[in-house]
Amino acid sequence: MPEVHDLGLMIDSNIPIVVIETAEELRAIDTITRLSVSRNIPMYSWSITEGIQRLGFGFEMERDDKCQEPEAILEHIKKDRTAAIYVLCDFHPFLADSPKNIRLIKDIAMRKSRLGHTLILLSHSLNIPPEIRSYSARLQLRLPQPEHILAIVREEASNWSRQNGRKVKTDYPTLQQLVKNLSGLTYDEVRRLCRSAIIDDGAITESDLPEVNKAKFELMDMSSVLTYEFDTTSFQQVGGLHNLKQWLQTRDKVFNQGKDASNIDPPKGILLLGVQGGGKSLAAKAVAGAWHLPLLRMDVGSLYNKFFGETEKNLRKALQLAELMSPCVLWMDEIEKAFGQDAHDQGVSQRMLGTLLTWLAEKTHPVFVVATANKAHILPPELIRKGRLDEIFFVDFPDEETRATIFRIHLQKRKFDPDLFTLSTLTRMTEGFSGAEIEQAVVSAIYSAEARAEKLTHDHIVHEISMTQPLSVVMAEDIASLRAWAKDRTVKA
Ligand SMILES: Nc1ncnc2c1ncn2[C@@H]1O[C@H](COP(=O)(O)OP(=O)(O)OP(=O)(O)O)[C@@H](O)[C@H]1O
Ligand SMILES: [Mg+2]
Repeated sequence: MPEVHDLGLMIDSNIPIVVIETAEELRAIDTITRLSVSRNIPMYSWSITEGIQRLGFGFEMERDDKCQEPEAILEHIKKDRTAAIYVLCDFHPFLADSPKNIRLIKDIAMRKSRLGHTLILLSHSLNIPPEIRSYSARLQLRLPQPEHILAIVREEASNWSRQNGRKVKTDYPTLQQLVKNLSGLTYDEVRRLCRSAIIDDGAITESDLPEVNKAKFELMDMSSVLTYEFDTTSFQQVGGLHNLKQWLQTRDKVFNQGKDASNIDPPKGILLLGVQGGGKSLAAKAVAGAWHLPLLRMDVGSLYNKFFGETEKNLRKALQLAELMSPCVLWMDEIEKAFGQDAHDQGVSQRMLGTLLTWLAEKTHPVFVVATANKAHILPPELIRKGRLDEIFFVDFPDEETRATIFRIHLQKRKFDPDLFTLSTLTRMTEGFSGAEIEQAVVSAIYSAEARAEKLTHDHIVHEISMTQPLSVVMAEDIASLRAWAKDRTVKA
């Protein structure tokens, strides 16, 4: 345990007060106990409920006075002449507004060379008063590393096997992915999530991963700036976008195994620019689905806050949290809303952009950004410049072949056999339709067939298509200018 070593160094350097902020009290006590045993230093713990207890040498202390009161324990320590480690659990409420307790702690700290005591303050959260700050140092309990996580998973699996008389089913790639997805959590949390993944069906399968990720997301309490998207998809559900699919496929390995696996830089992210309803959001979901990663959506509009400075703080927090959830896909939908050039926001969007660009340049965690945008001309040039993101893809209206695929996808999704429809006619009629408009034609046709108590036929869809004015017609000018802009600056998706 590296913490035992760290704590040993602190004791060797005569630090009078060690501060441990953690939700894992038992693990902290265990760490301290190991050190006290190996160094042969007596160790006591104190809490408001139990009073003082001797730990580490396997015997209970017979004491009339348990020093239950906070002041009493400090007085006791100050008088104790045998050097010891005193662990004060949940002492934090007794530090706030208590000049006497603070002074007693300072007295003990100042007499370190004479008394030799080490005070350890152990709470989930601790504000150290300035009077004693210079006597204290913080010890960070480390989060479990992949090998520790794997060991916990194995332990939980064998516990389950023992209780149920059969082995836990899993496969190596899923196990590897689970270990990755559990990183950033404490030992207790890893154990808890792992146990609940096994308990329902005695197996660790791909279907457990989204649950684990969602639970992790909730533990980290980040819902104010990011949302966890349960609903990812696969690229089978996306028609067209062949270049994008190919691009992602060639980078899957590097992203998922990190730089160690090769000496190529792991991909940072992409921008999908394109017409409305072209499948940009769908593609973002498919990236997460294809790479088996959690998908976090940043609603860029909601970062904005009327309080000065809060907007950038929200962005920084969102980026930090995405790193905690890494490896993951960070989907920044409609980025022009946050980073678009707007003369009226007193430079907020400019500073936001700075924060984002710095993060993109410096990030070391595997967070893959999928940004989407509808409008090009207000996107800041700094963001579009090569090297910020790996590639800018233009999502145009689908060609004839892709339209046929999209019809197939949406008919099949609703349990209709595409081969019963004359797709060649439908695709010819839908020139200039977006994927969303094709889907809409199918959905409306199903409704009107149902309204007439008929079975869905080719003609119902034809009728709906003829009733639709596609955006490519309604917004012909906007789309032409978007295409013109994209021509030399982007790659076809
Ligand atoms: N290429 C496609 N293949 C299959 N379905 C598609 C495709 N493009 C769009 N769709 C359907 O249309 C729906 C809406 O598309 P989506 O929200 O992804 O478009 P978008 O490009 O994000 O649009 P917007 O710019 O309005 O956000 C999708 O959920 C999907 O059902
Ligand atoms: Mg969208």
